[in-house]
Amino acid sequence: MSFSHLGLSAKVLSAIDSAGYKTPTPIQEQAIPHVLARRDVLGIAQTGTGKTAAFVLPMLTMLEQGRARARMPRTLILEPTRELAAQVVEHFEKYGKNHKLNVALIIGGVSFGDQDAKLTRGVDVLIATPGRLLDHSERGRLLLSGVELLVIDEADRMLDMGFIHDIKRIVAMLRKERQTLFFSATMPQEITKLADQMLRDPARLAVTPQASTVDRVEQRVILTDKSAKPNLLVEVLKTETTDRVLVFTRTKHGADKVVRALQKSGFGAEAIHGNKSQNQRERVLADFRNGKLRILIATDIAARGIDVDGVSHVVNYDLPNIPESYVHRIGRTARAGADGIAISFCDHEEAPFLRDIERMIRMSIPSTDKRTGERPAHRPAQQNAGNRNGGRPHRNGRQQRGHGGGNGGGGNSRHNGNNGHRSQAPGNGHQGRHPSQNAHEGAPRAEATAGEPSGIGNVTFLQRTNEPRRNAGHRAR
Ligand SMILES: Nc1ncnc2c1ncn2[C@@H]1O[C@H](COP(=O)(O)OP(=O)(O)O)[C@@H](O)[C@H]1O
Ligand SMILES: [Mg+2]
Repeated sequence: MSFSHLGLSAKVLSAIDSAGYKTPTPIQEQAIPHVLARRDVLGIAQTGTGKTAAFVLPMLTMLEQGRARARMPRTLILEPTRELAAQVVEHFEKYGKNHKLNVALIIGGVSFGDQDAKLTRGVDVLIATPGRLLDHSERGRLLLSGVELLVIDEADRMLDMGFIHDIKRIVAMLRKERQTLFFSATMPQEITKLADQMLRDPARLAVTPQASTVDRVEQRVILTDKSAKPNLLVEVLKTETTDRVLVFTRTKHGADKVVRALQKSGFGAEAIHGNKSQNQRERVLADFRNGKLRILIATDIAARGIDVDGVSHVVNYDLPNIPESYVHRIGRTARAGADGIAISFCDHEEAPFLRDIERMIRMSIPSTDKRTGERPAHRPAQQNAGNRNGGRPHRNGRQQRGHGGGNGGGGNSRHNGNNGHRSQAPGNGHQGRHPSQNAHEGAPRAEATAGEPSGIGNVTFLQRTNEPRRNAGHRAR
């Protein structure tokens, strides 16, 4: 199957050709004809399956007809983070190089002025994070009633980040006769509900992964004392044959500490997280992509949506308290069908997290015990997590979203059931959820260090500056 049978315009096909996509991914193949036929679409496909082009390519084709008017964007794409929003802009730049479209990026952390000027000139495609979009519309500088097509992208992450309420407010400002495209990697109940409210007779597309990420990654656990982790990481880096290594820590502070420890031992490593400027992040990511930097330390949020192939090893320096994060993390090493190795450090306090992860992936991960024996040397799977809640970082009730009137807790709920990745692939061993996962309701997602500002750094309006971030909190305003 090639792109040429999907109904895309000649301009789009020629851009695809020069950019080098050869065949559409399954979600692209299924979604593009429906989008072009002006049908609503509910598209569920795992992270990394090309959902962006599934809407960008047909949108480019459709936007060849008609013109933009001042302050009335023709199409609107909502993204949960600045980083993801910026990646969608890049898609439009690459695949729309034969088009003369006005694409505007509306995200927080940059001045209103530039964004406002751009809106005045008329916008074909408005790509926005929900918070900043609402700010503009509240100032009366933006009319959403002209939007013919709405894309809600990465809907499950929108839910994670507490944006559902904002999305409902935005959708309420749009006209009813519009086309709506809804994309998500997973389909928790709240997302199903939201989709039902917003879509009219959608084409329901669900792409089943060939082999689940978890099956393709060689996983190992090293049980260790917390204090031994820095040396253990050095040891792993010395003994493994690594190409690109992505190391995950729970907090930004932790990420910086790991960088310092590695540098002391002579390893070149750098960190990306929400406290770094956009320029720093881009430089570090570019170095990691082109091989200048072999070891990248990241927090979960910073690593979201970042697309780097050829990661040979993922190291979970800290285990995530949310089992899905583990799957997302190790999936970084199995992109584009490649296999990889995931090594997780598990200290005494993290034992319950390991137990939850093993339950979710329905396998026990081979482990090596390097603890010094100060603690009872039992396997975490036997521990009673329920008795340890007081000490569990994710049960401390800290709220990281900084979101006033948002989802009121319910919106934070975990992905109950119907995860595309688990429930649509009978036999892959990931169906269903263990009831214990409800114990994490309302847990802070990641970068859970109290009081730290968070977010994705700074992306300016169609160009980047290194101006410092102004607003803290998880909202990508
Ligand atoms: N048809 C294709 N052929 C080759 N690479 C593709 C194709 N479609 C998308 N990609 C690449 O796959 C990666 C993941 O795409 P993305 O849209 O970010 O995935 P998702 O949103 O589903 O997580 C990107 O690097 C993208 O450029
Ligand atoms: Mg995406």
